[in-house]
Amino acid sequence: MGQPLLKEDHETVGKLLDELRAKLRREADVKTIYEMLDTVWARLAVHIRAEHLCLFPALLEASRALFDGQGEHAPSHAEVINAVERLRGDHDLFMRELGVGVNTLRGLLSDPQGHDAKAELEGVRRAVESVAARLEEHNALEEEQVYSWAQQLLPDEEAQARLAADLERELANLPPRFNDRNSPA
Ligand SMILES: [Fe+2]
Ligand SMILES: [Fe+2]
Repeated sequence: MGQPLLKEDHETVGKLLDELRAKLRREADVKTIYEMLDTVWARLAVHIRAEHLCLFPALLEASRALFDGQGEHAPSHAEVINAVERLRGDHDLFMRELGVGVNTLRGLLSDPQGHDAKAELEGVRRAVESVAARLEEHNALEEEQVYSWAQQLLPDEEAQARLAADLERELANLPPRFNDRNSPA
């Protein structure tokens, strides 16, 4: 339940992330790993931007406007604030960790002799594994709880349809390099 577009997008990003993890495990060449990591990083950034620009403001505003007890089983404004803070903290961590990995691989590509490639690739592999584990918990919190809050909090179907349209537009707003590869069907 909840936001089907965002849930589908978790699957799309998850498949790309699994591909990246497989390439790191079987020690593919640095350029291949770099391109895959860059794709995962940029694709996850699009998903996060849609949540920041559309979902979170809609939930925060609707929960602030709701009087206590007005929406049965609906989360309080404080609950929404706490959840959004936690999710934002995760988003910052994902972008930071993957961004460090992208820079490490760029360094390896531009100056292969000046680096211990094996050790640095192992560092990237560990960072990607830790992001993958945290992302699994993060997505579970969103899918089991936060995404369904939109139905409970937004005042009517019109507001829900507006949110869905905003999310669809943001998720389709991929960087130009995605035009040829990895675009969601
Ligand atoms: Fe998220
Ligand atoms: Fe998400």
